[in-house]
Amino acid sequence: MTKRSVSWRLVTCLSSSHKLSLNVLCLVVTLFLLLQLWSFHITLQPILLPPSLLTYLNHEQQQQPEVSHNETAYLVEKLRESVTFLPLKDLRFSNKPLEGHTWFMSSLYDNQTKGEVQYQEFPSESSKGRLLCLKGFDKHDGSWNYYALAWPQALPINASLKKGLTFVSYNHYDYGNMWHGLSAMVPFVAWSLRNQCEKPQRWVLYHWGELRFNMGDWLKEIITATYGQEPDILHFVDENTPICFEKAVVMRHNEGGMSRERRIEVFDLIRCKARNYCNISSFETSRPKIGMTLLMRTGPRSFKNVSAVADVFRRECKRVEGCEVKVSYSNNLTFCEQVELMRNTDVLVSPHGAQLTNLVLMDRNSSVMEFYPKGWLKLAGVGQFVYQWGANWSGMRHEGSWRDPYGEACQFPDTDRRCMSVYKNGKIGHNETYFGDWARSVLERVRNMKDVVERNQGYDSLNRCMC
Ligand SMILES: *[C@@H]1O[C@H](CO)[C@@H](O)[C@H](O)[C@H]1NC(C)=O
Ligand SMILES: *[C@@H]1O[C@H](CO)[C@@H](O)[C@H](O)[C@H]1NC(C)=O
Ligand SMILES: *[C@@H]1O[C@H](CO)[C@@H](O)[C@H](O)[C@H]1NC(C)=O
Ligand SMILES: *[C@@H]1O[C@H](CO)[C@@H](O)[C@H](O)[C@H]1NC(C)=O
Ligand SMILES: *[C@@H]1O[C@H](CO)[C@@H](O)[C@H](O)[C@H]1NC(C)=O
Ligand SMILES: *[C@@H]1O[C@H](CO)[C@@H](O)[C@H](O)[C@H]1NC(C)=O
Ligand SMILES: *[C@@H]1O[C@H](CO)[C@@H](O)[C@H](O)[C@H]1NC(C)=O
Ligand SMILES: *[C@@H]1O[C@H](CO)[C@@H](O)[C@H](O)[C@H]1NC(C)=O
Ligand SMILES: *[C@@H]1O[C@H](CO)[C@@H](O)[C@H](O)[C@H]1NC(C)=O
Repeated sequence: MTKRSVSWRLVTCLSSSHKLSLNVLCLVVTLFLLLQLWSFHITLQPILLPPSLLTYLNHEQQQQPEVSHNETAYLVEKLRESVTFLPLKDLRFSNKPLEGHTWFMSSLYDNQTKGEVQYQEFPSESSKGRLLCLKGFDKHDGSWNYYALAWPQALPINASLKKGLTFVSYNHYDYGNMWHGLSAMVPFVAWSLRNQCEKPQRWVLYHWGELRFNMGDWLKEIITATYGQEPDILHFVDENTPICFEKAVVMRHNEGGMSRERRIEVFDLIRCKARNYCNISSFETSRPKIGMTLLMRTGPRSFKNVSAVADVFRRECKRVEGCEVKVSYSNNLTFCEQVELMRNTDVLVSPHGAQLTNLVLMDRNSSVMEFYPKGWLKLAGVGQFVYQWGANWSGMRHEGSWRDPYGEACQFPDTDRRCMSVYKNGKIGHNETYFGDWARSVLERVRNMKDVVERNQGYDSLNRCMC
């Protein structure tokens, strides 16, 4: 007889009898029954258990650890098998590849703290302790490379584990171009600055989810200088063997989200590390009081008449005490020659182009004067402003741009995109009057600043990373 059936009797008994005396009797009987039931449960049950059953239960209990160990091994095996690899490039987001979670590892979200670098770290609280695993060696289509998360105790079948810290970089552009390469590297340096200057053991480079194994020489040297070791770029041996990482940091937004302050910190560190690496003393006495450097290009976007341009700047420089002009070509300078040149530059005069990336290596508050061929303003898109941003982010002054009003003719209206192919590789002329006035006003400002305060290098915050 269960408690439920007793209650049911109570109810039927009460409702079926109309006389009070009968109801009372009914209650008494029911209570008696309930008490019987309880006492049965409390006192009689253990005694009623047959000894053979007790022995059986005890035996089972001793067996328990064995059983659960077996069960764990079984579950771990199931966990390993259930690790699911997803395509690195998620084509569902190809219309907004750079927004939010992006199309790269699109199921995962970045740690976003206001003003700080946006990153993912594995293992972490948000990965619930799981490691990042990568698979695939496609160099042409990122949807054939894969990622997964796995607990360290249950890595996918056949996976190999890479010890130490791995930097996984997503670059929407390329690692050969100085500016784009540097942009991809900035967030990692920012992360290191906030994480005891931790260095990566290796790098995994992706562009649209496709593997890359090379980076430009300039970038390689910047990384070598910053981390004190050459970047080791991971190669995958075949398409089916997953590689999991003991610790991985993933960046897919370049410097996006970082405050100007954070960016400046990064460039301060890179600048300082590069100078140390090249053995350039910060107390060099041979440095001109005001250095004006014309950093020239050859080919596309070079000046049509370099000597005419150089003459204008030499003339203006001569008017200012302690000013020296240097004309250099970026294509045949070694990395350390570039670092040293920038160390001695207060005013950088250069056409729009990757060589301008060197501007981050000047002392803070130095000036940049940029030049464009005809047609760029209307057709070249926002990318043409990267050195204005770069100057701002690294604490420099972008002094404006000169855009050549003359150049090759385009058969279409000058807002027609087809004209870009004509203008893209155009050369840059000059306007003596304009260049002269411009140089004079920039030099004037630089001279005043130098007189007021010998610029401090602003490395105070970086002692932690020993620079
Ligand atoms: C699980 O236990 C059974 C019985 O003791 C044993 O035969 C089997 O090998 C065990 N399996 C594992 C994975 O330990
Ligand atoms: C996000 O980063 C901050 C530090 O920048 C850290 O304190 C926090 O724990 C991180 N959050 C997650 C979920 O990893
Ligand atoms: C693991 O590697 C072995 C030997 O190379 C191979 O036969 C097997 O198919 C692989 N298993 C998986 C799940 O890739
Ligand atoms: C800097 O100096 C160190 C020690 O004197 C030397 O080993 C290193 O090669 C030098 N580096 C460069 C780039 O000159
Ligand atoms: C370049 O400019 C200089 C000085 O203005 C001039 O003498 C020279 O003829 C020019 N060269 C060319 C190729 O136009
Ligand atoms: C560097 O390149 C420029 C332009 O190609 C050339 O005029 C100059 O002589 C070169 N300098 C050296 C040192 O090779
Ligand atoms: C950089 O940009 C910010 C905001 O866009 C502006 O407030 C600041 O003055 C700029 N700094 C320099 C040095 O140009
Ligand atoms: C050169 O610049 C000056 C000053 O900005 C301007 O007045 C002049 O028209 C320009 N010359 C040419 C040929 O465009
Ligand atoms: C840069 O210039 C500004 C204003 O001219 C000044 O306040 C600041 O201290 C300078 N910064 C450095 C690092 O010299």
